[in-house]
Amino acid sequence: MKAVAITQPGGPEVLEWIDVEDPRPAPGEVVVDVSASALNRADVMQRWGLYPLAPGTSPYPGLEISGRISAVGGGVTGRRVGDEVCALLTGGGYAQKVAVPAGQLLTVPRGVGLVEAAALPEAAATVWSNLVMTAGLTAGETLLVHGGGGGIGTFAIQVAKALGARVVTTVGGPEKAAQARELGADVTIDYRTEDFAEQGPYDVILDVVGGGYLERNVRSLAADGRLVVIGLQDGLEGSLNLADLVFKRLSVHGTTLRTRSAVQKAAIVADVQRHVWPMIESGAVRLVVDRTLPMSQAAEAHRVMESGGHTGKIVLVND
Ligand SMILES: NC(=O)c1ccc[n+]([C@@H]2O[C@H](COP(=O)([O-])OP(=O)(O)OC[C@H]3O[C@@H](n4cnc5c(N)ncnc54)[C@H](OP(=O)(O)O)[C@@H]3O)[C@@H](O)[C@H]2O)c1
Repeated sequence: MKAVAITQPGGPEVLEWIDVEDPRPAPGEVVVDVSASALNRADVMQRWGLYPLAPGTSPYPGLEISGRISAVGGGVTGRRVGDEVCALLTGGGYAQKVAVPAGQLLTVPRGVGLVEAAALPEAAATVWSNLVMTAGLTAGETLLVHGGGGGIGTFAIQVAKALGARVVTTVGGPEKAAQARELGADVTIDYRTEDFAEQGPYDVILDVVGGGYLERNVRSLAADGRLVVIGLQDGLEGSLNLADLVFKRLSVHGTTLRTRSAVQKAAIVADVQRHVWPMIESGAVRLVVDRTLPMSQAAEAHRVMESGGHTGKIVLVND
């Protein structure tokens, strides 16, 4: 098969579409002939050599795919060759084939095309696991989503609205603000010119920015508020006022989906199938796709993501 290899750490030009060994299904896995994959920020960090991979992880980037099952490993039940699926991966999605633990497979939601479905698993699993399973967001609460124009942000706004929350989001510019409001955001804040801390308090904050926002995030939480940090785009360190934490009874969480065990991923995927897929099938949540490019042009797709000009997901499709 062909896959996108990271030939050395560096810019988008280090990505090359090359011939590699076909994967085989280990017990408990299936092999999927990949129709499409989608980009995540972690792929860019991996390309720069800034994302340490656990032993056994595929060297090729790609955290999500859609396609058709072409081989079924021992011990897998309920899945057949030819089934159309999408899947959450630990890596290896930028390829023509990938081996996937059966617990990380999802059906393609009704009304969603096979190519488009590639862009759902990572955002859906990240958003559901952090907003609901970690932060316990409930109807009537106010959520602040940082980066409401991104792949995670566009999805988080809609899931939170479907749960009955009030949603405030930070965006970089008027076009992304308009899109966020169209997706249901109640308030948009241009983070380049406005201070989100002035619009609080927030019951839950989903943060993709990291160290540079820690002090203001904690300061703008309401009593019993929950901050979940999932991205570190602006630094690994920040200052934390423990008086805020103690007197307002706050919790600060940090999570990554990729480093979770296969058992934890399977539990999240099962919850996503049960709770998020109906939101998509009813039209309450829709996927925002910025553009679709051939898998062999992964380097160009990375240039688009790094320039920050995109809104929503960037999809890579196999011929
Ligand atoms: N921990 C996990 O499990 C997990 C899983 C998935 C993703 N993530 C992280 O989540 C983040 C988003 O991922 P993605 O795939 O959605 O990437 P993406 O589509 O490139 O989105 C990045 C977003 O960050 C926003 N942003 C950058 N600087 C900001 C600032 N100072 N204030 C507010 N927003 C800012 C951008 O806003 P503008 O474009 O409007 O400027 C953009 O919307 C990444 O950091 C990624 O590593 C973590």
